[in-house]
Amino acid sequence: MLTSYLYTSICLLGLQTATAQYTTDPTAATIREIEHLYLDAANAGFFSAVTPCTNYVNPQGTGPNNNLGRQTAAEWVRTAFHDFVTANIYTESGGLDASIGFETTRDENVGVAFNDALTFFSYFINNRVSMSDLIALGVVTAVGNCGGPHIPMRGNRIDATVAGPSGVPRPETDLQTTLVDFSNAGFNEDDTIALTACGHTMGGVHGNTFPQAVGTSAESSTNADGRVPFDETVGVFDITVVDDYVHWTGDKGGPLVTTPNKTVQSDLRLYTADRNATMNRISQGGAAYFASQCSSLFQRMIETVPGTKLTTPVDPTATTNLKPYNVYLAVDWKGNMVLSGAFRYVQVAGAAAAPSTLTITLIDRAGKTTTTTATAKISSADTGTAIWGPTHSYTFTLSFPATVGVSGLSVSGQTFAFQDTMFVNAGLSHVSPAPMQFSTTTAMNTVTAFSVNTTVAYLYTGTAPTSLTATYAIPMPQTGTVSPAMDTSTTATLALVGKTGPYAIYSASTKKSLSAKQAYGTSVDVAVAGQSAGVVFFKPFNAGA
Ligand code: HEM
Repeated sequence: MLTSYLYTSICLLGLQTATAQYTTDPTAATIREIEHLYLDAANAGFFSAVTPCTNYVNPQGTGPNNNLGRQTAAEWVRTAFHDFVTANIYTESGGLDASIGFETTRDENVGVAFNDALTFFSYFINNRVSMSDLIALGVVTAVGNCGGPHIPMRGNRIDATVAGPSGVPRPETDLQTTLVDFSNAGFNEDDTIALTACGHTMGGVHGNTFPQAVGTSAESSTNADGRVPFDETVGVFDITVVDDYVHWTGDKGGPLVTTPNKTVQSDLRLYTADRNATMNRISQGGAAYFASQCSSLFQRMIETVPGTKLTTPVDPTATTNLKPYNVYLAVDWKGNMVLSGAFRYVQVAGAAAAPSTLTITLIDRAGKTTTTTATAKISSADTGTAIWGPTHSYTFTLSFPATVGVSGLSVSGQTFAFQDTMFVNAGLSHVSPAPMQFSTTTAMNTVTAFSVNTTVAYLYTGTAPTSLTATYAIPMPQTGTVSPAMDTSTTATLALVGKTGPYAIYSASTKKSLSAKQAYGTSVDVAVAGQSAGVVFFKPFNAGA
């Protein structure tokens, strides 16, 4: 049994816990992970870094530091821009692929933003959510949490393993070259101007990295890096930067417009490239128009992944935001099954109020709706306000004979598919010792020798296979970037250890020395030899069983 300490810590934290065996579709696992990071209210991990929006988290482990004149939300948006803009849609190369991690020593990538962002994101990487997905999620979260528009969030990006081409425009870059760089990434002149205005509504230019643009006179004890903001509302995603520029008020469009050093007036060169037509149009369109333009341009930016098929979007503004999470299936030696977990309901604007209870009905293995139900009460734990509204949690437990099995749950008129043909048996699997409580601090780098027992139930007809193969995906440090790479070289052979009801039970214990950071990012797939995996993306260190 997994220790109760781990289970308790997971429940309290409500983070890093999205795991289970719903279907064997890896894409569904990616969506589930993104939903968890993006939508869960108690997810102190991901969006707390940009809460409040002016916050700066030093991901080297020293926590918030708001005296540097730095802003995590702005760094996340800038990181995505620098990663994406070297894309070439004609040669189908580059794009949002986390290659920025290998490129931080280039002159065109001056500043700590990129390693700040990637180091923070590296606590969340796993086999279903890549670093490039996390960079995209960083934009979506930062913009959404700072008052900006909803941006559809898809997953499945593939991380680069080497540096990509150069070609990020610098403030010194001439207009023609800048427009060619953006054009190769699929953005015309109008798009380029609007995207830059959308990017330059948060954060600013730092004197310690761009003294040629802003000097160092802004440096102070509360602004150690000497930031000069783009507009007066540095921590809000809004149209102010555009209106300031068009009406020549406030910060007049920011330092890359107003700097006396003509060579680095890159925003002024861009905004006047079409005689201010784009900036005037946005200003006249007003706040809602700015938001919708930015949403679609940011979506195009984070979906510039030539040759990659992305998942369907996670859409928090959909009103059917009832989703299962942390669902575990167990079968004991007497042939009794237990399905336990939770449903999450995000009460987005316009959605019905959260019900006080949910009735959860079992659909058996044959697809027939049964009379086995559970009443899940709204829980005060794991409840709070996420970016898109109050988030509520309902925990449930359903018990039934293994001969009945499960293929889905019916809740509030919706059906959620599960599979019970092969699953990590939550009741019999365990990890020892429990990893330290999850946090995004360097304490998580301490290495522990873990013993991981993976016990799998397999529904067999005829002769049960003699063994199963487990393949573990573990985030490993890689040379040249702070972004880990997923390593799948650790495997284990699960031996047949017994039978219960219609199931054969297989088990193996694997010893592995891992940091807690690696442990939380570890998942396992299990397959019958020669077949595709029947268990996909089970996170052994997060299992509450
Ligand atoms: C020709 C195009 C662009 C140039 C030359 C440019 C240049 C710069 C420079 C020099 C800074 C100051 C960085 C620092 O001091 O830390 C900056 C900040 C920033 N840029 Fe751009 N940029 C361009 C386009 C964009 C675009 C398209 C986006 C987003 C889609 C973007 C997002 C940001 C953000 C969010 C910041 C603030 C970073 C912070 O406060 O840490 N930029 N940009």
